[in-house]
Amino acid sequence: MQQNLENLYNECFGYVKDFSIFKDMITIKDNDIIIGAVGIEKDYDEITLLTGLCVSAKYRNRGVATQILEICANMYKNKPLVLYINKNEDKLEAFYNKRGFISYYSNDTLPIDIKFNPETEILLYKENNLL
Ligand SMILES: CC(C)(COP(=O)(O)OP(=O)(O)OC[C@H]1O[C@@H](n2cnc3c(N)ncnc32)[C@H](O)[C@@H]1OP(=O)(O)O)[C@@H](O)C(=O)NCCC(=O)NCCS
Repeated sequence: MQQNLENLYNECFGYVKDFSIFKDMITIKDNDIIIGAVGIEKDYDEITLLTGLCVSAKYRNRGVATQILEICANMYKNKPLVLYINKNEDKLEAFYNKRGFISYYSNDTLPIDIKFNPETEILLYKENNLL
């Protein structure tokens, strides 16, 4: 499992995350091989802060990442889903916007109290009112 995740993160990001920063991880498998994952960061009780959503290249564009976001919404009901992306990642921003995440570009307008650097980041926020 660990080796599997390391391979996936290496493929998607070119480096391996420190998985100990996560309180949980959601993974999708194909025949016991992890083909998609996201981490849920510790230290946040009021929101679900997602990190490192990734899907193995040959499984992309089949709805795997969308499915992972839906699982997060179901697992962490009534907690907003939040994540950061780097500025100028237009394609990623569009991907999240299309899935109901709102983009925030300034500290002044944030709906939650969270550390955020508008110089380099966009914050994406989605209310999660599933019951
Ligand atoms: C972004 C990513 C998670 C999408 O995974 P996926 O399983 O292909 O996504 P889905 O099949 O659910 O949705 C497909 C959408 O992703 C978009 N997409 C495909 N490759 C992408 C990429 N490299 N960057 C951003 N979006 C991408 C497609 O255009 C499509 O958009 P649309 O449905 O809104 O038209 C995947 O491309 C990936 O792992 N990229 C590398 C890691 C990364 O950038 N992660 C995001 C960290 S915040």
